[in-house]
Amino acid sequence: MTTNMIETKGLTRKFGQDRGIFDINLEVPRNSIYGFIGHNGAGKTTTIKILCGLLQASSGTAFIDGCEVNRKNLPKIKRMIGYMPDITGVYEQMSVWEFLDFYGAAFRIRPDVRSKRIKDALELAGASQMIDYQVASLSRGMRQKVGLAKTLIHDPQVLILDEPAGGLDPQARVEMRKAIRSLKDLGKTILLSSHILPELASICDRVGILNKGKLLAQGTVRDIADVVHEALSISVTVDNDPQKAMDLVKTLDGVESVTAGDANQFFLRYHGAREKAGLILSHLMKNDIHVRWFAENETDLENVYLNMTHDAEGKDKEEEKTEEKKPSGKAEAKSEDKSKSKNEKKEA
Ligand SMILES: Nc1ncnc2c1ncn2[C@@H]1O[C@H](COP(=O)(O)OP(=O)(O)O)[C@@H](O)[C@H]1O
Ligand SMILES: [Mg+2]
Repeated sequence: MTTNMIETKGLTRKFGQDRGIFDINLEVPRNSIYGFIGHNGAGKTTTIKILCGLLQASSGTAFIDGCEVNRKNLPKIKRMIGYMPDITGVYEQMSVWEFLDFYGAAFRIRPDVRSKRIKDALELAGASQMIDYQVASLSRGMRQKVGLAKTLIHDPQVLILDEPAGGLDPQARVEMRKAIRSLKDLGKTILLSSHILPELASICDRVGILNKGKLLAQGTVRDIADVVHEALSISVTVDNDPQKAMDLVKTLDGVESVTAGDANQFFLRYHGAREKAGLILSHLMKNDIHVRWFAENETDLENVYLNMTHDAEGKDKEEEKTEEKKPSGKAEAKSEDKSKSKNEKKEA
């Protein structure tokens, strides 16, 4: 049994010169939720279509549960995967039951088991009450749920959901997340894509960050954050003399920058050992600063993502220029960019 339920090796699909996906190595562990993140046009749908056998790669290979995705294995792959496209096609003139029954028949599910399957799929998707609704009357959120039920009809072990929360209102998004979690509890492996970050952070075990067809990083949110910004962001609130407090911390080892916030608050970027960050606090207290709040800011997926894609874009631009810059100059430019995008975020 392979540990990764979904895996790709050097997966590449070119559309012309510089569009498509390039050398993608995905690793999606069995029974996990994997978030595939990237702006529009990053290559999420292209990758997903190759995984599902709907599009051929220019080079590289994809595996589902160790089985190579190719023409010969396609019938097997189709049974293993439940694929929900970004725009679910639904047949307007049918009831939800008829619609699901039609798909059940297409998967050759025996008529005597089919109706139980339909009920189970609707329940998992949180759409039981819609069984007799006309498809034409469904809202966007309802359609997504019925689309998810359709994806589940043949009880696949792997679910590949392309932007499952796209266009949904907040309530419908919460329900979609709940359905996805309960599918994981059933032992399934789920890959879902999104360009909206916060909706993924809370349910994903791992994420892959895709930018302009390239996988910039993958791992747990924390793993990625550690790679991207080794510096900690710490916020401090004091009850007296914020200016003195800021001057005090500025001189400390590992403190990269100090930025004033509202009232008695300020932020610092600390680049030293994590376990020594507490020394900043004790230094303040020894110098009669009354500290009310001292905390490491939560690693936030959106920030990580902005930093990464920002860095990648900076690099692209520099590569376009002539090679006259020294490597050290490049590294500095990058770290400046990073702190800038962080501050911009704080102001927002
Ligand atoms: N059939 C196609 N022909 C030409 N270019 C395509 C085709 N499909 C996708 N692309 C291009 O490939 C890139 C990735 O697209 P896509 O995979 O749809 O991104 P995403 O799903 O992340 O928004 C885009 O630049 C897109 O224009
Ligand atoms: Mg897409």
